[in-house]
Amino acid sequence: MEIVNQWRQEKLRYCIMTKNATRILSGIQPTGDLHLGNYLGALRSWVESQHSTESFYCVVDLHSLTVEFDRDNLARRTLDAVCMLLAAGLDPEHCTIFVQSHVDEHTSLEWLLECVATFGELNRMTQFKDKGAGQESVTVGLFTYPVLMAADILLYDADKVPIGDDQRQHLELARRIASRFNARYGETFTVPEALIPPVGARIMDLQHPENKMSKSSDSHLGTIFLLDDPDEVVNKLKRAVTDSENTVHYDSERKPGVSNLLEILSAITAERPDVLALRYDSYSRLKQDVAQAIIDTISPISKRFRELTSNTDYVMDVINNGAVRAREVAAVTLARGREAIGLLRP
Ligand code: TYM
Repeated sequence: MEIVNQWRQEKLRYCIMTKNATRILSGIQPTGDLHLGNYLGALRSWVESQHSTESFYCVVDLHSLTVEFDRDNLARRTLDAVCMLLAAGLDPEHCTIFVQSHVDEHTSLEWLLECVATFGELNRMTQFKDKGAGQESVTVGLFTYPVLMAADILLYDADKVPIGDDQRQHLELARRIASRFNARYGETFTVPEALIPPVGARIMDLQHPENKMSKSSDSHLGTIFLLDDPDEVVNKLKRAVTDSENTVHYDSERKPGVSNLLEILSAITAERPDVLALRYDSYSRLKQDVAQAIIDTISPISKRFRELTSNTDYVMDVINNGAVRAREVAAVTLARGREAIGLLRP
């Protein structure tokens, strides 16, 4: 009962927050094919928000330089990520879609914010610790990554930032940096709030349900990519790790594998995971239905993606126009930040 009430309250709060937002910004890295976690945790709410708010969506290619990357494929991956956003349903008539490196203001503001953020704060970021773990050397860019993310957000006066659960700590830092800057130099930046969906904010790996689904999972069977074909989806679901009980109920602590499947189905059907569980008396039926729900969700996206990748002129137009609009807004905010800090105007 506790879970149900909590779920209802969170869903209601999420709907109210989305409607009340005036400016939204979010971003996604072009580091490989997008997956079901990206879609259910973030992209889907971007598509919903674009009609009710002024929204900016950014492919954060500069962030992708903070870990090992493939120089020869970086530009193509960036374009593919834009195609994916369009295929998922973003409409350039209703939102601004742009590439981070096309708007220089992001790195300019980053510097001002780096002079406000502290070493200790950045050192506490769990993603920095995870990504840096076991590496012989770690770049400064990986360390300052969350400050660039704060700049992405603050430049657009975003009051809401739709993200999955794994970005919660970065968003908290952006809020702290904005508040500190405002307190020190006068009201300059909007302090943003995270918009995290009540279900689907943390889709887990199908092979290791204790880890979040990610592009870089060690087993490709653990991640559903948005471009997977139906046979691949069925195969990955068949082999998804569950437990030895064979009773379907929703309990993320005790039954992480089964609960993850129920969460995926819940995020797609908008029905409560615990209620969905009552309909199943075997894992195989649950897996079949989850596979079908995923196929129905991603098939139209991959079809549109393939159409868009053969029309790169259109996609380039979208991001060139997006950069013009993004710069208009970003230049004003950067100038405000510079003035607040006391730099000499040119
Ligand atoms: P990235 O590229 O890793 O992921 C993009 C979005 O997908 C969400 N996500 C998930 N949601 C649910 N379940 C999962 N397994 C899952 N995996 C990823 C992420 O939470 C994210 O919302 N640092 C960001 C990119 C960024 C950004 C920004 C985001 C840069 N600047 C400004 C918001 C605002 C990142 O690496 O996301």
